[in-house]
Amino acid sequence: MRWIAAVVLLNFIYSVLSTSPDDGEPYLHVMARSSVYNVGVKRAIYCKGRNLPEMIDWISPKDTVVEGRSSKNTRVYVERSKNDTLASSLVALIIQDAMIEDSGNWTCRAGSLNESIEITVGVKAVISNKYETIEGEEGKSVKLDCVAKGYPAPIIQWYLENDPISNDHKKYILKMKGDNYQLEIKSLTHRDTNEYVCRVTQKALSHFSDRRVQLIVNHKPFLVDENNEVSYSKYKTEEVYAIMNETKNITCTVIANPPPTFRWYRRQNGYDEELQDTETVLTPEDGNSSVFVLRTFDESALGEYKCSANNSKGHVSIIYHVSLGNKPNPPDFIQLAGTSTSELTFNITCSTCNMATAEEDMSEDPTNLTVLGYSFALVPVQEGFLPDWDAANEFLVDIKEYNSTLFTVGPLQNSTTYHVRVRTRNAAGFSDWVEVTPNPTTDLASQLTLSFILILVICSVYPIVY
Ligand SMILES: *[C@@H]1O[C@H](CO)[C@@H](O)[C@H](O)[C@H]1NC(C)=O
Ligand SMILES: *[C@@H]1O[C@H](CO)[C@@H](O)[C@H](O)[C@H]1NC(C)=O
Ligand SMILES: *[C@@H]1O[C@H](CO)[C@@H](O)[C@H](O)[C@H]1NC(C)=O
Ligand SMILES: *[C@@H]1O[C@H](CO)[C@@H](O)[C@H](O)[C@H]1NC(C)=O
Ligand SMILES: *[C@@H]1O[C@H](CO)[C@@H](O)[C@H](O)[C@H]1NC(C)=O
Ligand SMILES: *[C@@H]1O[C@H](CO)[C@@H](O)[C@H](O)[C@H]1NC(C)=O
Ligand SMILES: *[C@@H]1O[C@H](CO)[C@@H](O)[C@H](O)[C@H]1NC(C)=O
Ligand SMILES: *[C@@H]1O[C@H](CO)[C@@H](O)[C@H](O)[C@H]1NC(C)=O
Ligand SMILES: *[C@@H]1O[C@H](CO)[C@@H](O)[C@H](O)[C@H]1NC(C)=O
Ligand SMILES: *[C@@H]1O[C@H](CO)[C@@H](O)[C@H](O)[C@H]1NC(C)=O
Ligand SMILES: *[C@@H]1O[C@H](CO)[C@@H](O)[C@H](O)[C@H]1NC(C)=O
Repeated sequence: MRWIAAVVLLNFIYSVLSTSPDDGEPYLHVMARSSVYNVGVKRAIYCKGRNLPEMIDWISPKDTVVEGRSSKNTRVYVERSKNDTLASSLVALIIQDAMIEDSGNWTCRAGSLNESIEITVGVKAVISNKYETIEGEEGKSVKLDCVAKGYPAPIIQWYLENDPISNDHKKYILKMKGDNYQLEIKSLTHRDTNEYVCRVTQKALSHFSDRRVQLIVNHKPFLVDENNEVSYSKYKTEEVYAIMNETKNITCTVIANPPPTFRWYRRQNGYDEELQDTETVLTPEDGNSSVFVLRTFDESALGEYKCSANNSKGHVSIIYHVSLGNKPNPPDFIQLAGTSTSELTFNITCSTCNMATAEEDMSEDPTNLTVLGYSFALVPVQEGFLPDWDAANEFLVDIKEYNSTLFTVGPLQNSTTYHVRVRTRNAAGFSDWVEVTPNPTTDLASQLTLSFILILVICSVYPIVY
């Protein structure tokens, strides 16, 4: 079918080209549109005419008649066919090696008939070093360059997260230094670590180009809490609850660049003793946190622990007060409340637990800690086998509203029956597990979409075969 369309299109173009009136009426037409050329290109622009009163001339933007090619005139000239007559003529304006000065209106004229096109000759701004990573130092300032030379003069703008940066004379200083549009960022902090984009635009040339600068600010460590909030105090204390005879992970998280070195200490009688056992001090791969695995076999494990993080820019530390907390009771009501192809929803409560109430009562009783949420473990049922809890996926859910009892876990596989067990979670740790019976099953993913696509494929293949 495609070739038919092509033939129709070609016929259409021919008919448009040949419908120029040949009924004796004078007619003149420039066979090109106003356009933008890059410096140095070669172009031929044709002007055609019929039944003309006079010869066709091309008039330059400086209002002079363009001459034919000669030894003196080799860059911009006209070329006429030897067959040119007033009845039918085609005259080419040749521009070799376009220059910025060629910009303007070029007119094809024969007597009082004329037609003009506007030509813009420009130089596309070229950005060297489109990607760069620059380091800055906390408290100092940094200058980001964006050099862009072009014609017409490009418009240059710096962006941060898609928002244009404006000169506020305090944090961001923008200066034009020759062809360099320079962004200075003052009083650097870790929050300035980001990608800065310089965008160069030449509307007349439909040209734009970006320069991306990744700024990395070297800064001292700052503590980060479990809600990912950054704390700017150098020392901090935190209450930690542990359950007797269970292990408790205490996680110390910071942001820092260069990556920090963590150290853990046991604090007793005003003396810090470093803890270096590689089985109790773990450093996850992200490099921004360190985990101390506290094993509370007796009361002697309780007390103060210190985590400190340092890098070349400074240090920060946090003291954990570890005391005993209660192991929460397990949930005593569990009901499957909804299923979908990828999720299961349960209605869960623990009537003997200390559940949060509407009044935000923050004072915690360590022997009756507020329930924070639940932990689910799910593993697909394999007929004839006991649940393999080691292979289970664990999902932690939070009680977001004090009265909510519905919790959804997923993503899960569709049409799959799961072994599910649940435990209550408080600041100290987890309750014992409770298994959910009967085993819930996710919904079957509808086969409709697949068969629909199949039908579409069959429908589109069939006529061609036919
Ligand atoms: C000039 O016209 C003749 C006859 O009309 C044609 O054969 C020839 O190709 C034309 N030459 C040019 C350069 O158009
Ligand atoms: C070219 O002609 C157009 C339309 O007449 C006019 O708007 C434009 O300013 C002219 N350009 C120059 C460079 O003179
Ligand atoms: C160009 O054509 C217009 C009419 O289309 C006419 O008014 C004008 O005088 C012509 N200009 C020249 C320079 O011949
Ligand atoms: C902790 O474990 C020890 C020994 O296994 C046991 O004697 C003690 O009763 C346990 N304590 C609690 C609170 O479970
Ligand atoms: C503590 O962290 C380690 C390593 O990330 C993990 O294997 C272990 O299950 C965690 N223990 C608890 C009680 O969360
Ligand atoms: C670690 O800290 C650096 C520097 O602040 C930050 O860019 C990076 O995202 C952090 N990594 C994690 C896993 O939080
Ligand atoms: C961090 O602190 C330790 C001990 O105080 C010191 O030996 C080490 O050089 C420090 N690291 C950096 C990067 O300053
Ligand atoms: C959860 O179960 C309880 C006890 O059956 C019931 O009163 C409550 O309405 C259920 N909640 C929802 C959201 O279904
Ligand atoms: C814990 O607090 C809840 C709610 O305040 C209460 O119902 C429960 O009896 C308390 N449990 C203990 C062991 O004190
Ligand atoms: C929980 O309480 C809030 C107001 O405190 C109410 O708007 C909401 O409907 C309640 N949700 C349930 C599931 O009862
Ligand atoms: C549904 O599960 C089957 C096998 O368990 C899988 O092949 C299919 O891709 C799943 N469909 C969706 C929509 O996840």
